[in-house]
Amino acid sequence: MVDVLLGLQWGDEGKGKIADFLTPKYDVVARFQGGPNAGHSLEINGKKHVLNTIPSGIFHENCVNLIGNGVVMDPILLKAEIEKTIAAGADVRERLLISKKAHLILPTHRLLDAASEAYKGDSKIGSTLRGISPTYQDKTGRSGIRIGDADSPNFDKLYKDVIEKHKGILRYYNFDFEAKLAELEEEWFAAVEYLRGFKQVNSEFYLHHQITQGKKILAEGAQGSLLDLDFGSYPFVTSSNTISGGACVGLGLAPKHINKVTGIFKAYCTRVGSGPFPTELENDMGQFLRDKGHEYGATTGRPRRTGWLDLPALKYAIMLSGVDELIMMKADVLSGLDSIDVATGYEGCSDDELCPFNIQGTVVTPKYESFAGWQEDISVMREYQALPETFKTYIDFMEQDAGVPISIISVGPDREQTILRK
Ligand code: GDP
Ligand code: IMO
Ligand code: MG
Repeated sequence: MVDVLLGLQWGDEGKGKIADFLTPKYDVVARFQGGPNAGHSLEINGKKHVLNTIPSGIFHENCVNLIGNGVVMDPILLKAEIEKTIAAGADVRERLLISKKAHLILPTHRLLDAASEAYKGDSKIGSTLRGISPTYQDKTGRSGIRIGDADSPNFDKLYKDVIEKHKGILRYYNFDFEAKLAELEEEWFAAVEYLRGFKQVNSEFYLHHQITQGKKILAEGAQGSLLDLDFGSYPFVTSSNTISGGACVGLGLAPKHINKVTGIFKAYCTRVGSGPFPTELENDMGQFLRDKGHEYGATTGRPRRTGWLDLPALKYAIMLSGVDELIMMKADVLSGLDSIDVATGYEGCSDDELCPFNIQGTVVTPKYESFAGWQEDISVMREYQALPETFKTYIDFMEQDAGVPISIISVGPDREQTILRK
């Protein structure tokens, strides 16, 4: 049985915290897409951990953590992340499995990402510069290299062939790469060798066996539904499918094994990088949300753009993934406000097809409803009953409008700051 956990907005909803919180119910946590563009924060007993490629169940003793075939991984960054996570007390050697089919981010992929962004100038995507798009381009272009290929006698040739192609593109971009490439290459090969010391598996078979033995699997998404390659605000998206369908291809799972889809959303919205953001607040309120919510990227440290919750966008994401259950994050950030706005529609758009961005790239204008705020500090509350009545009115409205129950409310970054709604 497989449950899917994913973000419903533009990423950074708090997937890491919730995956860690839910892990005790599961035997395996499996990442199905993305790569080290992700930054998933966990806070355990006051100590913060940031994971980029390792799944968020790694701090639990009895859980296997799988990096799926749909993930792209940078050996240099993954080696550093593994070492950091071992130092933080997790037995990564024992608990981590890596799909042999996961594609490798090469040193030139990182350089190509930087070159492409520089070339685009003002119309840049605002990527994390981790080489994500060039790596997925090589995957779909059938010239990528997978971690399992490191065992092949052909590995060096595969590498050289693709690097020569990349050099040609970097020259086209007029990008100065020789010194940087020379510096990265040695480290990259050493890191690939290091990863060969970890358990690499044919993960589709591994997961299939787990399912037939009745084990429980949590498929962990990265990024968010509005960054999905097909349904996000293209071209300002990432290069993988972040919606629940991505879990099937990113892990080799038949759709019939998917049991429950849980969607995570913040009580407001954030976005890093370029692209449409209809409810963005470029004012004091936006700065309030950024400061109080510590809205600075876990991976890149970039300030996140902030805005009010966008319900039509949330409902679009719920539809795309068939979300069964919602989890609301960072409700504590809204404490102390007199009123809270929520976008409930867009001017001039048909209620049947509400999407926060359209194919022409024009941005829609939201229509808002205002809700009374609350003054209490809800971050110290642990029971649903204790929450202020105005807060309950706010989430009842959301639940009814979305048509999906909100099962958990997160009121702080720590594992403990989590309220289960009966
Ligand atoms: P992810 O990428 O979806 O895992 O989310 P990130 O870790 O990038 O960003 C979420 C940020 O919010 C992290 O700094 C978390 O520690 C923090 N966080 C998670 N849940 C809550 C919450 O309920 N309240 C507050 N104030 N912070 C939270
Ligand atoms: P987590 O898993 C927020 C954004 C980038 C950029 C666009 C493309 O922590 O929620 P890419 O490097 O993927 O080519 O960048 O996607 N982006 C994220 N934004 N959270 C993330 O991951 C993101 N991963 C990518 O900022 O706009
Ligand atoms: Mg993040």
